[in-house]
Amino acid sequence: MIEVKNITKSFDGRVVLHDINTVFEDGKTNLIIGRSGSGKTVLIKNIIGLMKPDKGEILYDGRNLLTMNKHELNMLRREMGMLFQGSALFDSMTVLENVMFPLDMFSNDSAKERQKRAQFCLDRVNLSEAGHLFPSEISGGMMKRAAIARAIALNPKYLFCDEPNSGLDPKTSLIIDDLIHDITVEYKMTTIINTHDMNSVMNIGENIIFIKEGVKEWQGTKEQVITSSNKALNDFIFASDLFRKVKEIEMQHEEG
Ligand SMILES: Nc1ncnc2c1ncn2[C@@H]1O[C@H](COP(=O)(O)OP(=O)(O)OP(=O)(O)O)[C@@H](O)[C@H]1O
Ligand SMILES: [Mg+2]
Repeated sequence: MIEVKNITKSFDGRVVLHDINTVFEDGKTNLIIGRSGSGKTVLIKNIIGLMKPDKGEILYDGRNLLTMNKHELNMLRREMGMLFQGSALFDSMTVLENVMFPLDMFSNDSAKERQKRAQFCLDRVNLSEAGHLFPSEISGGMMKRAAIARAIALNPKYLFCDEPNSGLDPKTSLIIDDLIHDITVEYKMTTIINTHDMNSVMNIGENIIFIKEGVKEWQGTKEQVITSSNKALNDFIFASDLFRKVKEIEMQHEEG
């Protein structure tokens, strides 16, 4: 569980996050949604400690990120898996070497054990046969899966994904969403995903935080998105054609 308390962040006097309060639960895919520029990436960067908020607290299962010393912070970092925009695989390494990289950096296991673990993670994301290939030799969806395998190599408690579906077609996006959701449940991770993909919202939106201009405007589940009367949320989701249709059907149901 990650608790975010009263997080405020400004750049040059401009408030980008205003007094954000929320709880991200474990074993769930927690989504941060909102328009481009609403503050999703800044929020995730504050949560993982890449940026320091002006005010507030961030608690990782009760441990306060902002008062940790270097050693505690390093220990916490090992419990985090990250999947950022693009897959950011190393081009000069094979897929297997990419997945082994965090293990080589942080694990004390033997080379054989590390390779076994990396192969296990590749198997988990259905890339059993791709270990010997280079990133340039595989598709975008495969790269994303390889990046997921690398992100879970150290068995993280917390998984952070910033726009995991960027650049993928809708069908591949669904596969990636399902994979992230499945491993979240399987390993009881606290997973936080930034997205403006409405398909993801409806597919894996178990706990959704909607941010508008740096303010938490709404929080709920995918089922509650459909029936919400929050104007800002509706404006946001009505921008999607699919959603307009779903909402219209829902409203006809309510009237009839
Ligand atoms: N390092 C920075 N210095 C100054 N301003 C910044 C910095 N990082 C982000 N911002 C500003 O903060 C605001 C929120 O940006 P952020 O990247 O969090 O948006 P986002 O919701 O992730 O958008 P997108 O969906 O396009 O990724 C923007 O106005 C951005 O210009
Ligand atoms: Mg962003």
